[in-house]
Amino acid sequence: MCSAPGKVIISGEHSVVYGKHALVTAINLRCYSQVNKADRIKIISELGETGLNFEVHPYVSWAIKLFEERIKRKITPEVRIKSQIPIASGLGSSAAVTVSTLAALSLEYGMDFGRDEIFEIAREVELRVQGRASGVDPFVSTFGGAWLMPEREKFSFNARLLIVDSGESSITSEMVAKVAMLKERYPEIVDGILDVMDRITIEIKKALETGNDTAVASLFSINQCMLKAIGVSTRKIDRIISMLERSGIAAKITGAGGGGSILGFVPRRIKEPELEHKWLEVSPEYEGVRCEHGG
Ligand code: MEV
Repeated sequence: MCSAPGKVIISGEHSVVYGKHALVTAINLRCYSQVNKADRIKIISELGETGLNFEVHPYVSWAIKLFEERIKRKITPEVRIKSQIPIASGLGSSAAVTVSTLAALSLEYGMDFGRDEIFEIAREVELRVQGRASGVDPFVSTFGGAWLMPEREKFSFNARLLIVDSGESSITSEMVAKVAMLKERYPEIVDGILDVMDRITIEIKKALETGNDTAVASLFSINQCMLKAIGVSTRKIDRIISMLERSGIAAKITGAGGGGSILGFVPRRIKEPELEHKWLEVSPEYEGVRCEHGG
């Protein structure tokens, strides 16, 4: 059995697809994959039970296919997925299922792939399924920890982050395509917004490192305005964010948007957030993909 963590993007979703900075951390929710040799391919998850199926299980199916190409032979694994990361929530469940499955395939078929190799294949899976993608999600899921991307520079911070589920699905490929269309239509405007997002990411990193809660909170709000400007917020998300702000918590979309999760920054002066919505506190996870031998 192998597992890999989900992630939150603290700043830089979408702009990172165009080479701008992003701050991202793995979180303490994991996806578990168990692979056993069998006589035909079977994929079992909360999405259902299928064979190789690029509609229902696109990430696992591509992981199996690209793993076969890499080892140059056909395989017929049974793959069982159990995940703590909600699907289509902007929390990196697709990358985590890909990474944990590749590690479990490598373990079961005696390939002994290292993290670099797992990341390389997971990145290819992401591109096959989503088309355009930055590679941030599979990177963080493979290696764990908190990073400034695209430099791959580690950073550490001490902040309380909470997640609120918008109850709407976030489909990364659709949202990335939507931003690409807007950028094609209004290149100068959208490029300007992406540059602002880049600057915000750098400033959030500084503010987190120096423990400047007021600055983090205002930068979160500006960031959310930019995400709204490129069309990835929704009315429901806007409402939840206003509600969080009334309780003193600055918040923004995390991940591709269009639904999914909202990331809230809890300043130190708030000891216990009192919110109308259900929320979950997440903490950074320093361990990336791992396997429990014999498990
Ligand atoms: C998805 O978690 C983040 C996006 O920036 C897409 C990507 O980086 O590939 C929206």
